[in-house]
Amino acid sequence: MKFFIDTANLDQIREAQDLGVLDGVTTNPSLMAKEGITGEANILKHYVDICNIVTGDVSAEVIATDYAGIVSEGERLAKLHPQIVVKVPMIKDGIKAIRYFSNKGIKTNCTLVFSAGQALLAAKAGATYVSPFLGRLDDINYDGVELISQIVHIYRMYDYPTQVLAASIRNPLHIVRCAEAGADVATCPLNAILDLLKHPLTDIGLAKFLADAKKFQTESVK
Ligand code: G3P
Repeated sequence: MKFFIDTANLDQIREAQDLGVLDGVTTNPSLMAKEGITGEANILKHYVDICNIVTGDVSAEVIATDYAGIVSEGERLAKLHPQIVVKVPMIKDGIKAIRYFSNKGIKTNCTLVFSAGQALLAAKAGATYVSPFLGRLDDINYDGVELISQIVHIYRMYDYPTQVLAASIRNPLHIVRCAEAGADVATCPLNAILDLLKHPLTDIGLAKFLADAKKFQTESVK
Protein backbone atom coordinates (compact mmCIF):
# COMPACT_ATOMS: atom_id res chain seq x y z
CA MET A 1 0.00 0.00 0.00
CA LYS A 2 1.30 3.45 -0.91
CA PHE A 3 1.51 6.15 1.77
CA PHE A 4 0.48 9.68 0.78
CA ILE A 5 0.48 12.58 3.20
CA ASP A 6 -2.73 14.60 3.43
CA THR A 7 -1.49 18.14 4.04
CA ALA A 8 -0.31 21.34 2.38
CA ASN A 9 2.25 21.96 5.14
CA LEU A 10 5.73 21.93 3.57
CA ASP A 11 7.55 21.07 6.83
CA GLN A 12 5.34 18.04 7.41
CA ILE A 13 5.78 16.95 3.78
CA ARG A 14 9.58 17.24 4.17
CA GLU A 15 9.48 15.27 7.44
CA ALA A 16 7.50 12.41 5.84
CA GLN A 17 9.77 12.48 2.78
CA ASP A 18 12.88 12.33 5.02
CA LEU A 19 11.43 9.26 6.75
CA GLY A 20 11.70 7.50 3.39
CA VAL A 21 8.18 6.09 3.32
CA LEU A 22 6.33 8.74 1.34
CA ASP A 23 4.76 7.97 -2.05
CA GLY A 24 2.81 11.17 -2.72
CA VAL A 25 0.72 14.07 -1.39
CA THR A 26 -2.96 15.01 -1.36
CA THR A 27 -4.24 18.49 -0.68
CA ASN A 28 -7.66 20.11 -0.66
CA PRO A 29 -8.90 23.71 -0.44
CA SER A 30 -9.36 23.44 3.35
CA LEU A 31 -5.76 22.22 3.82
CA MET A 32 -4.42 25.04 1.59
CA ALA A 33 -6.45 27.62 3.56
CA LYS A 34 -5.11 26.16 6.84
CA GLU A 35 -1.57 27.02 5.65
CA GLY A 36 -2.71 30.54 4.71
CA ILE A 37 -2.12 29.92 0.99
CA THR A 38 -4.51 32.22 -0.88
CA GLY A 39 -4.59 33.87 -4.30
CA GLU A 40 -4.14 31.97 -7.55
CA ALA A 41 -0.43 32.71 -8.06
CA ASN A 42 0.47 31.63 -4.49
CA ILE A 43 -1.64 28.48 -4.75
CA LEU A 44 -0.03 27.43 -8.04
CA LYS A 45 3.47 28.15 -6.68
CA HIS A 46 2.69 26.11 -3.57
CA TYR A 47 1.77 23.06 -5.68
CA VAL A 48 5.09 23.34 -7.53
CA ASP A 49 6.94 23.66 -4.19
CA ILE A 50 5.26 20.44 -3.01
CA CYS A 51 6.19 18.64 -6.26
CA ASN A 52 9.80 19.68 -5.75
CA ILE A 53 9.91 18.00 -2.31
CA VAL A 54 8.39 14.62 -3.21
CA THR A 55 8.85 12.18 -6.07
CA GLY A 56 5.27 10.84 -6.33
CA ASP A 57 1.85 12.12 -7.33
CA VAL A 58 0.51 15.39 -5.88
CA SER A 59 -3.25 15.96 -5.94
CA ALA A 60 -4.33 19.56 -6.60
CA GLU A 61 -8.06 20.22 -6.29
CA VAL A 62 -10.16 22.31 -8.68
CA ILE A 63 -12.55 24.91 -7.24
CA ALA A 64 -14.84 25.12 -10.30
CA THR A 65 -18.00 23.00 -10.25
CA ASP A 66 -19.12 23.38 -13.88
CA TYR A 67 -17.71 21.24 -16.71
CA ALA A 68 -16.00 24.06 -18.65
CA GLY A 69 -14.55 25.55 -15.47
CA ILE A 70 -13.25 22.20 -14.18
CA VAL A 71 -11.64 21.45 -17.56
CA SER A 72 -9.86 24.80 -17.87
CA GLU A 73 -8.74 24.85 -14.21
CA GLY A 74 -7.63 21.20 -14.37
CA GLU A 75 -5.62 21.77 -17.55
CA ARG A 76 -3.90 24.75 -15.91
CA LEU A 77 -3.04 22.62 -12.85
CA ALA A 78 -1.84 19.66 -14.94
CA LYS A 79 0.54 21.93 -16.89
CA LEU A 80 2.23 23.04 -13.65
CA HIS A 81 4.25 19.84 -13.14
CA PRO A 82 4.21 16.22 -14.40
CA GLN A 83 3.48 14.98 -10.83
CA ILE A 84 0.20 16.90 -10.58
CA VAL A 85 -3.01 14.87 -10.37
CA VAL A 86 -6.19 16.90 -10.92
CA LYS A 87 -8.57 16.39 -7.99
CA VAL A 88 -12.20 16.64 -9.08
CA PRO A 89 -15.35 16.44 -6.92
CA MET A 90 -17.85 13.60 -7.32
CA ILE A 91 -20.54 15.58 -9.13
CA LYS A 92 -22.10 15.17 -12.58
CA ASP A 93 -19.86 17.75 -14.29
CA GLY A 94 -16.91 16.31 -12.39
CA ILE A 95 -17.50 12.85 -13.86
CA LYS A 96 -17.73 14.35 -17.37
CA ALA A 97 -14.49 16.23 -16.76
CA ILE A 98 -12.75 13.09 -15.45
CA ARG A 99 -13.68 11.32 -18.72
CA TYR A 100 -12.26 14.30 -20.65
CA PHE A 101 -9.01 14.32 -18.63
CA SER A 102 -8.69 10.54 -18.89
CA ASN A 103 -9.00 10.69 -22.70
CA LYS A 104 -6.24 13.32 -22.72
CA GLY A 105 -3.92 11.27 -20.45
CA ILE A 106 -4.26 13.71 -17.53
CA LYS A 107 -4.28 11.94 -14.14
CA THR A 108 -7.30 12.52 -11.87
CA ASN A 109 -8.39 11.91 -8.29
CA CYS A 110 -12.17 11.77 -7.81
CA THR A 111 -12.82 13.20 -4.35
CA LEU A 112 -15.69 13.37 -1.85
CA VAL A 113 -16.72 9.77 -2.47
CA PHE A 114 -19.01 8.23 0.15
CA SER A 115 -20.63 5.25 -1.62
CA ALA A 116 -19.75 2.27 -3.81
CA GLY A 117 -22.06 3.60 -6.54
CA GLN A 118 -20.07 6.84 -6.70
CA ALA A 119 -16.83 4.84 -6.84
CA LEU A 120 -18.20 2.75 -9.70
CA LEU A 121 -18.97 5.93 -11.69
CA ALA A 122 -15.47 7.31 -11.03
CA ALA A 123 -13.91 4.08 -12.35
CA LYS A 124 -16.19 4.06 -15.42
CA ALA A 125 -15.11 7.65 -16.17
CA GLY A 126 -11.44 6.59 -16.04
CA ALA A 127 -10.31 8.22 -12.78
CA THR A 128 -6.72 7.40 -11.81
CA TYR A 129 -7.65 7.48 -8.11
CA VAL A 130 -10.93 7.40 -6.19
CA SER A 131 -10.98 8.97 -2.72
CA PRO A 132 -13.53 7.48 -0.30
CA PHE A 133 -13.57 9.56 2.94
CA LEU A 134 -13.61 6.90 5.63
CA GLY A 135 -13.19 9.12 8.71
CA ARG A 136 -16.15 11.29 7.78
CA LEU A 137 -18.29 8.15 7.38
CA ASP A 138 -17.15 6.90 10.81
CA ASP A 139 -18.13 10.35 12.17
CA ILE A 140 -21.75 9.74 11.17
CA ASN A 141 -21.79 6.15 12.46
CA TYR A 142 -21.17 4.34 9.13
CA ASP A 143 -18.27 1.89 8.76
CA GLY A 144 -15.75 3.74 6.55
CA VAL A 145 -13.37 0.76 6.21
CA GLU A 146 -16.29 -1.41 5.07
CA LEU A 147 -16.76 1.00 2.14
CA ILE A 148 -13.06 0.67 1.25
CA SER A 149 -13.44 -3.17 1.18
CA GLN A 150 -16.58 -2.92 -0.95
CA ILE A 151 -14.89 -0.67 -3.54
CA VAL A 152 -11.73 -2.82 -3.63
CA HIS A 153 -13.92 -5.91 -4.18
CA ILE A 154 -15.84 -4.32 -7.08
CA TYR A 155 -12.74 -2.89 -8.77
CA ARG A 156 -10.88 -6.24 -8.54
CA MET A 157 -13.89 -8.16 -9.89
CA TYR A 158 -14.00 -6.01 -13.04
CA ASP A 159 -10.27 -5.21 -13.26
CA TYR A 160 -10.78 -1.45 -13.09
CA PRO A 161 -7.36 0.22 -13.04
CA THR A 162 -8.62 3.06 -10.79
CA GLN A 163 -6.65 3.02 -7.53
CA VAL A 164 -8.52 3.12 -4.22
CA LEU A 165 -7.06 6.02 -2.25
CA ALA A 166 -8.42 5.81 1.30
CA ALA A 167 -8.86 9.40 2.55
CA SER A 168 -10.02 11.16 5.70
CA ILE A 169 -7.81 8.84 7.75
CA ARG A 170 -7.61 9.90 11.38
CA ASN A 171 -5.45 7.34 13.21
CA PRO A 172 -2.95 4.45 12.81
CA LEU A 173 -5.68 1.80 13.14
CA HIS A 174 -7.42 3.31 10.09
CA ILE A 175 -4.15 2.85 8.14
CA VAL A 176 -3.77 -0.80 9.18
CA ARG A 177 -7.43 -1.58 8.47
CA CYS A 178 -7.12 0.03 5.00
CA ALA A 179 -4.08 -2.17 4.31
CA GLU A 180 -6.11 -5.24 5.36
CA ALA A 181 -8.96 -4.11 3.11
CA GLY A 182 -6.61 -3.91 0.11
CA ALA A 183 -6.57 -0.12 -0.44
CA ASP A 184 -3.95 0.88 -3.02
CA VAL A 185 -3.12 4.10 -1.18
CA ALA A 186 -3.78 5.60 2.26
CA THR A 187 -3.52 9.37 2.52
CA CYS A 188 -2.84 10.28 6.12
CA PRO A 189 -2.00 13.17 8.41
CA LEU A 190 1.67 13.03 9.52
CA ASN A 191 0.72 12.16 13.13
CA ALA A 192 -1.20 9.04 12.01
CA ILE A 193 1.89 7.83 10.12
CA LEU A 194 4.20 8.55 13.08
CA ASP A 195 1.77 6.85 15.49
CA LEU A 196 2.39 3.59 13.58
CA LEU A 197 5.84 3.60 15.24
CA LYS A 198 4.47 3.42 18.76
CA HIS A 199 4.33 0.34 20.94
CA PRO A 200 4.98 0.31 24.71
CA LEU A 201 6.81 -3.05 24.47
CA THR A 202 9.21 -1.51 21.93
CA ASP A 203 10.00 1.30 24.41
CA ILE A 204 10.38 -1.11 27.36
CA GLY A 205 12.49 -3.53 25.30
CA LEU A 206 14.79 -0.80 24.01
CA ALA A 207 15.27 0.68 27.50
CA LYS A 208 16.28 -2.80 28.79
CA PHE A 209 18.68 -3.43 25.87
CA LEU A 210 20.35 -0.05 26.43
CA ALA A 211 20.60 -0.60 30.22
CA ASP A 212 22.15 -4.06 29.69
CA ALA A 213 24.57 -2.71 27.06
CA LYS A 214 25.67 0.00 29.52
CA LYS A 215 26.20 -2.61 32.29
CA PHE A 216 28.27 -4.74 29.92
CA GLN A 217 30.40 -1.74 28.85
CA THR A 218 30.98 -0.77 32.52
CA GLU A 219 31.95 -4.36 33.43
CA SER A 220 34.40 -4.66 30.49
CA VAL A 221 36.14 -1.43 31.57
CA LYS A 222 36.70 -2.98 35.08
O1 G3P B 1 -8.14 15.16 1.56
C1 G3P B 1 -9.42 14.77 1.91
C2 G3P B 1 -9.59 14.13 3.27
O2 G3P B 1 -8.49 13.35 3.58
C3 G3P B 1 -10.09 15.03 4.35
O3 G3P B 1 -9.95 14.48 5.65
O4 G3P B 1 -10.04 14.65 8.12
O5 G3P B 1 -10.96 16.52 6.70
O6 G3P B 1 -12.15 14.35 6.85
P1 G3P B 1 -10.82 15.03 6.89
